[in-house]
Amino acid sequence: MNQGSNNKRTPLVAGNWKMNGLKDSIAEMAVLDSLLDNNLPAKCEILICPPFTLLVSFNHILSGTKIIIGAQDSHWAEKGAHTGDISPLMLADAGCEYVIVGHSERRSDHYEDSSMVLKKAEAVINANMKAIICVGESEKEREAGATLRIIENQLKKSTSKKMNSQNTVIAYEPVWAIGTGKTASVKNVEEVHNFIRMLLCERFGEDGNSFRILYGGSVKAANAKSLMGASNVDGALVGGASLKANDFNGIITAYRK
Ligand code: PGA
Repeated sequence: MNQGSNNKRTPLVAGNWKMNGLKDSIAEMAVLDSLLDNNLPAKCEILICPPFTLLVSFNHILSGTKIIIGAQDSHWAEKGAHTGDISPLMLADAGCEYVIVGHSERRSDHYEDSSMVLKKAEAVINANMKAIICVGESEKEREAGATLRIIENQLKKSTSKKMNSQNTVIAYEPVWAIGTGKTASVKNVEEVHNFIRMLLCERFGEDGNSFRILYGGSVKAANAKSLMGASNVDGALVGGASLKANDFNGIITAYRK
């Protein structure tokens, strides 16, 4: 099973800053821009998702660079009485092109389930941004041999016919590999990514081959090349190693021509 391996998908390297970053981290963006080298494929997309508080400043400093910005979550409503939440319209207004939805930390910290993730992803698309939908199994689920069943269940419940390869990206993030330094083996990653590709093709027909599928979970410069070379891996969702320009650039250069 290796659908989509000949498809020309634009790689996406996304940094998820999580709840990190103060005003002084704006300088890190100028450093990242200066490090990006001209050997990158022209169409490799580089995305940074800082906390909400830094979106507007990042948008300002990154205008005219190769780096685009996104958010880490969104409410599904356009506006209204939802204290503490941020709407897709606000995110688009702040300059976001992408929004991560259904990250496992949202699923655990805020009890988000796949039906909520679906509503969020649809709202992001309605606001003309792209949704990055995260799926991934826990360590217990992997040990119980339930990985593919969990991924199938999350993917089916968090996607709809409103989605296509132009407005949606899937990120496979095994929960046990996030922030732990444990990386899934290339074999594990390929097994799950090939499976996701098959599910996408079942659901979206030929367009299923054009969806990007990112891998996330302790991606670093040292393992990026082998992970990014795996079948049906179209980029990375990077947490800790995206906070420092040098580390993140080390991952981006896995895409050198
Ligand atoms: P990590 O996080 O790279 O720090 O493991 C990845 C993520 O949660 O998106």
